[in-house]
Formats: sequence, structure tokens, C-alpha cells
Amino acid sequence: MIFDTHAHYDDEAFDEDRELLLTSLKDHGIGWAVNVGASMESCRKALKLAEAYPFLYAALGVHPNETAELNEENMKWLRNACQDSNVVAVGEIGLDYYWDEPEREIQKQWFIRQLALARETNLPVIIHSRDAAKDTLDIMKAEHAEESGGVIHCFSYGVDMAREYLNMGFFLGIGGVLTFKNGRKLKEVAEYAPMDRIVLETDSPYLSPVPNRGKRNSSLNLPYVVSALAELKGITEEEVILRTTENARRLYRLQES
Ligand code: NI
Repeated sequence: MIFDTHAHYDDEAFDEDRELLLTSLKDHGIGWAVNVGASMESCRKALKLAEAYPFLYAALGVHPNETAELNEENMKWLRNACQDSNVVAVGEIGLDYYWDEPEREIQKQWFIRQLALARETNLPVIIHSRDAAKDTLDIMKAEHAEESGGVIHCFSYGVDMAREYLNMGFFLGIGGVLTFKNGRKLKEVAEYAPMDRIVLETDSPYLSPVPNRGKRNSSLNLPYVVSALAELKGITEEEVILRTTENARRLYRLQES
């Protein structure tokens, strides 16, 4: 069974058929998914979803572009909510200089605070980093993020940066981009990264793989990523599923069920 390590099923894109879709996942070989928070509102929804569906887990954190809403009260709420047994990670957190708001100093400040939250609550982190390679790595090193461990979600940098994160013990999250014609950089990274450090993710509803590129994404599309990765690695699709699911359990520190 496939493990989707990163999805946003709280997104309004799923308002019309969320229940139907989620209850159909198992029949299509998708065993588990982590619903990742991106704003305070989506964190609250992620908790509710994880409570409603036994195969869904929650990650709680505020996306860099949403950090303007963070304050001490919200941090306190997050710290308490992280004690919930369905919460498996702090995320997604990081830096995003592509959208570049709020200003970088604010993004950095709350990235550091949320890395500290992960350490305090003993949870791994889900890192979002876009067009901010150097600052992300500098902060993670200064804050000893390797003590928390975690995943670099939707990995978008090159082999050199992949090596840095692998050396720190992080997993690399790989999704639909692997099937894109212009996904050469990610293919190089996927070839380079050892098979025990790659996890599958969708970032649903975004980043749907070919042949569904541009449409709403869901975990149901992961077999396209599995097949692309199997071809790159020269192993069977079954082995890709087995290994990446094992990795996902190690990443989120889940017991065998
Ligand atoms: Ni995401």
C-alpha cells in the first residue's frame, strides 16, 4: 500500500467529494496519508480529518507565506495541539521567496520558532523551501534541525543541495513533478538519492502528475509517480511502494500496524 506523505485534503478543492474520495483510497492501493497544515485554519481542519479517518494523520504548522497570522497565542495553540496522538509532524514550515511575502525577516523569525516547536514537541519537521535554498539550509543548520529530522517536501533544488539534506539525515519528498517533461533536475536528484531516503507525496490538490497535469491532484495519482520512480531506479513498482512506505513510517515514527 502506498503512503502519501503530504496532502491537503482540507482544501476547498475537495469540498464536494471529500468523503467519497477519502473512503475510496484503500480500494486503490493508497493505505495512508498525512494531511499537512498550512494555515491556522487548515491545522484545525487537519486535526478533525485525522480524527475522522483512521488512515489519515495530521501535521501542524504554518506555511511561510501565511506566517503573518502567527502570534504567541497561535503558537501556544499549536504547542498544545501537537500533543494530539494523530499529529505526526510540525509542518509545513520554511521559507518561500518565490511568493516572497510576508517580508523575509518575518518568514525567518517564524520558521525558527516553528523549528523550536518541533524540538520541544519531539516531532519531525516538514520543510517547504522555494527559491530560498541558502537561507533555509543556514537556518536549519544553526537551529540544529537534524535533531528533529524530517522531510524536505516537494524537493525543488539540485543534487548539491540534496546531498546537504541527506547528510543531515533528512528524507526527500518526491511527487508529480517527477513525471513532468521539464522535471529533469528532480529526476537527477531522484537518481542520486538512496532508495531509503525517498518518500512519495502528492501535495494534493496541487502538482498532479502527467497524464493528469493541470487537473486536481489526489493520492489516486501516486501510481504515476511510482512508475516513474521505478523506471529511474531500475526496480519494480512493488519495490518502490514497499520501500517508500517503509521510509514514510520511519519519517513519521509510526509503528507497524
Ligand atoms: Ni503542501
